[in-house]
Amino acid sequence: MALRQAGCLGPLRRRVSGVIKYLGSKRRLVPALGRLFEASGAATALDLFTGTTRVAQELKRRGGVVWACDSARYSEVLGACYVAADAATIDEAELSEALGLLNRLPGRHGYFTETFCVKSRYFQPFNGRRVDAVRSRIADDFSGSWLEPLLLTSLLEAADRVDSTTGVQMAYLKSWAPRSYNPLELRAPALIPGTGYSLRADAAAAAASAGSVDFAYLDPPYNQHSYFGNYHIWETLVAWDRPPVYGVACKRSDCRDPANRSRFNSKPRFRDALAEIVRLVDAGILVLSYNDESWTTLEEITELCAKRGAVRVLTFDSKRYVGAQIGIHNPAGKLVGRVSHLRNHEYLVISGEQKDVMRAAAGVTDAGDVCCEVVQP
Ligand SMILES: C[S@@+](CC[C@H](N)C(=O)[O-])C[C@H]1O[C@@H](n2cnc3c(N)ncnc32)[C@H](O)[C@@H]1O
Repeated sequence: MALRQAGCLGPLRRRVSGVIKYLGSKRRLVPALGRLFEASGAATALDLFTGTTRVAQELKRRGGVVWACDSARYSEVLGACYVAADAATIDEAELSEALGLLNRLPGRHGYFTETFCVKSRYFQPFNGRRVDAVRSRIADDFSGSWLEPLLLTSLLEAADRVDSTTGVQMAYLKSWAPRSYNPLELRAPALIPGTGYSLRADAAAAAASAGSVDFAYLDPPYNQHSYFGNYHIWETLVAWDRPPVYGVACKRSDCRDPANRSRFNSKPRFRDALAEIVRLVDAGILVLSYNDESWTTLEEITELCAKRGAVRVLTFDSKRYVGAQIGIHNPAGKLVGRVSHLRNHEYLVISGEQKDVMRAAAGVTDAGDVCCEVVQP
């Protein structure tokens, strides 16, 4: 392995459309991934653990035909809005009229307010009542229409802007976050022109049925933190199924259902699950995200990817998520743990045919985005 040092990751501040706070979201890597995609000359792309869809959005913005896939309901909705909807063909006036109608609705106390503002304190009750009113109206008047995912995305993002959490829904803040006092306001999502598809599926099933693509990006969970549990409110807001809840965090009762536990959140199952996906994905260039807070090592990941041909690893210095910055607290808000470190490393492991890998990586290294680069022929 040869190691090359380059300049550290500079402030990559390109604005992307409204995106919810999300653990493991690749905000800082989006420009680099966009450059990788473009330099590779790819036309089609698969973002298999798409989460907020911000990477899929960037690939679409750069002209790719993109498939966005995730097991989460809210992610499918975000994908239907930002990846599948084509900004060039939607009726903006109709969207604006629908948003105006929803923004004018008076609040009403319902399941959402009772569960997430009274039994728990994720949102101020005046905003919870607005969520109840808006979500019910979307269900009554827009269910099944092309507007539905756009309106749900707008509502998710509006609720995210006024929540009282550190960005995960395992707990809420002891004192109201300053942003929670702002009134809930629906805004038009910044849609992107182009072609894409949004899919809610297990990654293995999606990889097996996706067919061949030029470029695939894999960003699986690498530890025990379940996205289903961490973002249970977004699941409920999209499903609108008023589930029974448990505990101080008021999680959906099906968070306890093993069927909703990802294999990627299980230490004994994780390695095989990842190996299966890498084997199943049929892509010219495969880019795997990895960070050093994972159950596996970078060596294991590069070994796995080397089965596909040449491998290059790009390293990025990164700030840890906000929860790690403010410390570990018990439900009463008392600091109970020490934070070991505030920064970590993010890696992009690129694999494929040697010439393609070199060409794609050059799109990033030439732009000076990376901290260091490891080349494994
Ligand atoms: C690290 S996050 C991806 C973040 C994303 N790249 C972004 O920038 O927003 C991992 C994602 O994998 C999804 N996930 C977990 N297990 C999955 C599975 N078995 N199949 C499909 N998606 C899964 C989670 O819902 C979560 O959105």
